[in-house]
Amino acid sequence: MSLQIHLHSCRDVAIRSVAREIATLIRNKPHAVLGLATGATPIPLYRELVRLHREEGLSFRQVTTFNLDEYLGLEPTHPETYWNFMHRHLFDRIDIPAANIHMPHAQLAEADILSHCEAYEDAIRVAGGIDYQILGIGRTGHIGFNEPGSPADSITRRIHLDAITRQDAAPAFGDLAHVPKHAITMGCGTILAARKIALLAFGESKADIVRRALREPVTDQVSASFLQNHPEAHFHLDPASASALG
Ligand code: F6R
Repeated sequence: MSLQIHLHSCRDVAIRSVAREIATLIRNKPHAVLGLATGATPIPLYRELVRLHREEGLSFRQVTTFNLDEYLGLEPTHPETYWNFMHRHLFDRIDIPAANIHMPHAQLAEADILSHCEAYEDAIRVAGGIDYQILGIGRTGHIGFNEPGSPADSITRRIHLDAITRQDAAPAFGDLAHVPKHAITMGCGTILAARKIALLAFGESKADIVRRALREPVTDQVSASFLQNHPEAHFHLDPASASALG
């Protein structure tokens, strides 16, 4: 199969559909390995997974997770670390053991960055690879923080954040000057190795980049376009994000 577009009637219908798929995966394969994203888009998905845990007994006890990325250089107590984001929105509200959670570190000495990234790739391999990868899409077309120019076979590494990405993050940090300049991100190759991928994009602000990712030729200038070549990539859209597809 090739890339599939799911046009949902609204964001919440899309969220319920993706959450149901994740729940079915976990019920059929309790040791499932999930790839997780941060940002505004997956917040309602995590809310729905928490509901499924609390009200329908969905257990994450044997699930393993790998997050896509983390800002470099933030103090552990900073509310905008993706570590804190994930604990706030998901991990503190479900029964996943701490040992099963994997996230790139925010605090790394220069000399340790390469080995940290290699260890992250190894940990994904040892876990058996990612069964189901959740993605958002940035205005630069990034998946994870794979900014324009990221090769299709890139692996986990340090990335310099694009000016547009930093601008988009500025409100959360109060000021552009406070937005980190670098992050650790899984590579495009790491992401494309996932067995199934669900990219979520909602709202008009995503319409143009969704069109470029889906309708223009595959290019390293829009990392999300690499998903066109993945056998199990699914774009979950609402009418606004799909509005430029024609
Ligand atoms: C987050 C990530 C990014 C975001 C993207 C969209 O872990 O890797 O690719 O998914 O920047 O962000 P939102 O959802 O805030 O529009």
